[in-house]
Amino acid sequence: MSSQETYDVLIIGSGAAGLSLAIRIADHAKVAVLSKFALTSGSTYYAQGGISAVLDAQDSIESHTEDTLNAGAGLCDPDIVKLTVTHGRQSIEWLSQQGVAFTGTEDKNGNIELHLNKEGGHSHRRIVHTADATGKAVSTSLTDRAKQHPNITLLENHNAIDLITAKKLGLSEQRVLGAYVLDISTNKVKSIAARKVVIATGGANKVYLYTTNPHISTGDGIALSWRAGCRIANMEFMQFHPTCLFHPSAQSFLISEAVRGEGGKLILPDGTAFMHNFDPRAELAPRDIVARAIDHEMKKRGIDCVYLDISHKPKVFVKQHFPTIYEKCLEFGIDIAKQPIPVVPAAHYTCGGVLTDSYARTNIEGLYAVGEVACTGLHGANRMASNSLLECLVFAERASIDILKALPDAPYPPKLPEWDESKVSDSDEEVVVAHNWDEIRRFMWDYVGIVRTNKRLERARHRIELLKKEIAEYYGNFRVTSDLLELRNLIIVAELIVRCAQQRKESRGLHYTLDYPETDNSKPPQNTILIPPSE
Ligand code: FAD
Ligand code: SIN
Repeated sequence: MSSQETYDVLIIGSGAAGLSLAIRIADHAKVAVLSKFALTSGSTYYAQGGISAVLDAQDSIESHTEDTLNAGAGLCDPDIVKLTVTHGRQSIEWLSQQGVAFTGTEDKNGNIELHLNKEGGHSHRRIVHTADATGKAVSTSLTDRAKQHPNITLLENHNAIDLITAKKLGLSEQRVLGAYVLDISTNKVKSIAARKVVIATGGANKVYLYTTNPHISTGDGIALSWRAGCRIANMEFMQFHPTCLFHPSAQSFLISEAVRGEGGKLILPDGTAFMHNFDPRAELAPRDIVARAIDHEMKKRGIDCVYLDISHKPKVFVKQHFPTIYEKCLEFGIDIAKQPIPVVPAAHYTCGGVLTDSYARTNIEGLYAVGEVACTGLHGANRMASNSLLECLVFAERASIDILKALPDAPYPPKLPEWDESKVSDSDEEVVVAHNWDEIRRFMWDYVGIVRTNKRLERARHRIELLKKEIAEYYGNFRVTSDLLELRNLIIVAELIVRCAQQRKESRGLHYTLDYPETDNSKPPQNTILIPPSE
């Protein structure tokens, strides 16, 4: 038997986006925050470089805006960029109030002057950070805060399966009412009802074989919003971070862009630097350019990796600025103060997602999307480094304003139907799920990666069609598990990425195809917006 719990606001996701929103509204609303696994299992915890904000006296809102627009290759929404960038300083102050200790020096009056990193695409130093483990500081402080608030219920190991909408219940209006959620610890599905629902589930980068992201990034929020009737945009713009550690035993470990910001050089196995051949900004060009340059060199020379060298800096500098990276690499026998680091590009960030307005509202009444899961218009065709955590914080605040304003008039949800397990049995073929997981991630890497072609996209589409049927049949017959739910979402995400990529007949930002290698400047740039079948 499943049971129904009811909250004012149900937030699906406990990263920077979900938790900061929960903390902002909890004095006025009863909130539940779901996390698929541990509260700190999202990408937020692993963020290294930091959070962009205009704090330096030489810097300006105009300059941060211009850099973001340039990186976004014509597809950023200038109003959204301005709005986000303008909120940089107050977002950092808010995080400090929540207990996040950023790296800085104290002057004689006891004021902290924050140290600012530099990263690709930024024309000024503007990245606020906690050494090279900014995400850990943000994630643990927000988690501690949320745990202390009596109005916040934190539900770990709760996997949201699908949204429940009025339309699904046969009503004419398009309004969200709650969600079906698998409680992983009891293996039972329950319905959670809410007056407002927020998707804050992070990105979809696990759809690729190689990724910097933690396990949770399977695009669940994008897939379940799509199934519920949300518009999804710009999924062709999957960002590949240029420098993921290349080592057989190191899974998904990022080497922060801040290493290049502090003078790290990208070199070939023979020690030759190459980035200046691709862009005058060399190592500090935006990520799409650096990742493509590395991919080009690796393919041209048949090499497994390139190297990132910071060993010309004094050891004390390296250890002070990059303590986490230094220690992690040392675990693998690489002393980064003495030798170059083997690196390869890996899937890192989902620029597209659930289409929202400037208050994080989706096209479904009562449903919001915040953080990496959303497509707000900030990133356009390529996200600039350290603009993501800023977006999480700013749009959580925007959503909080709208939710608190709307709550007094928001109706209470009706009794929701219970999850029906009468026609399913336990799976006797878990191997099928594991095999399909692997197959999707491999063909997405091979055919829908850094460099695409029409033929590769067609091949991927064909496999997606076959797998979609197989997975739907499996889902219809067997009791749900987390692996199966994620697989069901991964295939949707793969389809949305390929469909968007096929619609874009040009190369722009992160989408590069050999069939249309140029950017089409003959008409104004367009977002790729997918309309759900149910709309
Ligand atoms: P996440 O932090 O990913 O959290 C998602 C949450 O949703 C998790 O709690 C997860 O359990 C939950 N969830 C997912 N699916 C479900 C489901 N079905 N049911 C219930 N819960 C679910 N950005 C920067 O700006 N600066 C950086 O320095 C930086 N460094 C990075 C380094 C790494 C290694 C990585 C991977 C990313 C980095 N990024 C950085 C990107 C940034 O960290 C993320 O974009 C951002 O943290 C996303 O936050 P979020 O709250 O949207 O999602
Ligand atoms: C990094 O530290 O390189 C990651 C920064 C980001 O993804 O914004």
